[in-house]
Amino acid sequence: MIGRLNHVAIAVPDLAAATAQYRNQLGATVSEPQAEPDHGVTVVFVELPNTKVELLEPLDEGSPIAAFLERSPAGGIHHMCFEVDDILAARDKLASEGARVLGGGEPKIGAHGKPVLFLHPKDFNGTLIELEQV
Ligand code: CO
Repeated sequence: MIGRLNHVAIAVPDLAAATAQYRNQLGATVSEPQAEPDHGVTVVFVELPNTKVELLEPLDEGSPIAAFLERSPAGGIHHMCFEVDDILAARDKLASEGARVLGGGEPKIGAHGKPVLFLHPKDFNGTLIELEQV
C-alpha cells in the first residue's frame, strides 16, 4: 500500500541555523522558509536526489512542534511521510484494523498542497507516520 518515502521531518529549535547547516555543511539544496499556519510550523525543504528532509520550526507556542521540542530541546526526527495512491482507502483499511488516525480522520492539505493524514505513533513502533496522497 505505501509507496515512496516522501520526506523525513525533523523538528529543529533554530530553523535558520539548521538551514545553514544543511546548505553549507552538508551541501544540500534548501528552499526558502515557508509558513504553514494550518500545521503550526515554518518549514524548509531540503531536496535530496531520492527524497526530502523537512526542517520544522514551531510558528507559535501552541504548535505541536513546540511540545516536541520541550521534550527534545536539541530537536529530533518528528515523523516520516509515505506516499499512497488513495488516502481514503488507506485510512479505511488502517482504521478497520484498529490503527488510530489523528485529527478526526479527515485528510488535511499538507505542505505540498496534497491531502495528508497522520497515524498514531503508539500504533507504529513509536513513530509518527504521515500518509500523503500523490
Ligand atoms: Co510531513
